[in-house]
Amino acid sequence: MIPARPVLWISNPDADFCFPVSDLFMIILAVESSCDETAAAVVRDGTLILSSVVASQIDIHHRYGGVVPELASRRHLEALVPVTEEALAAAGLNAQQLDAVAATRGPGLVGALLVGFSFAKAYAYTLGIPFYGVNHLEGHIASLFLKAEAPEFPFAALLVSGGHSSLYHVRGHTDSELMGQTRDDAAGEAFDKVSKMLGLGYPGGAKIGELAEKGNPEKISFPRVWLDKSQHEFSFSGLKTAVGRYIQTHEEYREEIPDIAAGFQEAVVEVLSGKLLFAAEVKKCRTVALVGGVAANRRLREKIREDAGKKGLAVHIPPVSLCGDNAAMIAAAAYHYLQKGCATDWDADVYSRHKMPLSP
Ligand code: KG4
Ligand code: ZN
Repeated sequence: MIPARPVLWISNPDADFCFPVSDLFMIILAVESSCDETAAAVVRDGTLILSSVVASQIDIHHRYGGVVPELASRRHLEALVPVTEEALAAAGLNAQQLDAVAATRGPGLVGALLVGFSFAKAYAYTLGIPFYGVNHLEGHIASLFLKAEAPEFPFAALLVSGGHSSLYHVRGHTDSELMGQTRDDAAGEAFDKVSKMLGLGYPGGAKIGELAEKGNPEKISFPRVWLDKSQHEFSFSGLKTAVGRYIQTHEEYREEIPDIAAGFQEAVVEVLSGKLLFAAEVKKCRTVALVGGVAANRRLREKIREDAGKKGLAVHIPPVSLCGDNAAMIAAAAYHYLQKGCATDWDADVYSRHKMPLSP
């Protein structure tokens, strides 16, 4: 049980949102509501998860074949307070023991983001502690520091989720450079769309991954879309179209669904791994990392470990439980801004699209 402690924060009158930082451990409560998961977590010193609660909305959205933004916002509104209370209770803490509150600021669905962001901001304001609006993508990168062994800087990171496929040169906790991203669909989006084409439903990534285990990845060869090999950009819409064309022109495709899944997955995985290793080579990094929802894909994890192993590179991938959206990663990212002694302005707003620089 963590004891209640005296107030650690003294507002600096010359700089509204700067605070002296204590040497003691720092406890951050974070919430995440950028898409279809309502999550809250309590994390100590950016590394130790005291609790992490994730309430999925799949049951609401799956019948529509994708996330319905308005329904997502409404469910966040219902779930946020109980999920936060559960996270605090599971951590054995009360609100007065928190040092800061954080929330995802963007990118994501604006309505969904606003629910968590406004709630967390009000919570922090009421408690008189700083608030951190965290970039969701920076949160995914920070998930690497919630596992036992943290990566050494600098490293090349591949972030693959439902909305993003991006390569970063990560030089420090609050210092990441975007090297390149997808020109069209994100990797997770391609998994979800192919799943829909095959009648497997939403969310599709995990379903394709499971079926691919039973298929032959060499039976049907789908294109590897490298674009310009010297660039750090991706494109998955052509591959998705190739799968669609195969389905339309092969009446017997239903017999081949595991092979289609395996062939598609292999085409995605090969390019993702190849481009991550190339990014590491360009930036002379000895470490590579994989994060985001698609990082849960068993074959992708295996392929990156294999390819990086051949080059003698260290590989860091969070446990599967921290690949999908969660609030622990948001707290982990916020911790480093807390250490810098700065916080997000009280009048800050959410943003739907990715922006640089990242948080707060
Ligand atoms: O990071 P995340 O939870 O949410 C976003 O920030 O988008 O990523 C969700 C994405 C979805 O597209 C989902 O289909 C994909 O991650 N995903 C997977 C797997 N598990 C989740 N994709 C491939 N293989 C998986 N095992
Ligand atoms: Zn995400």
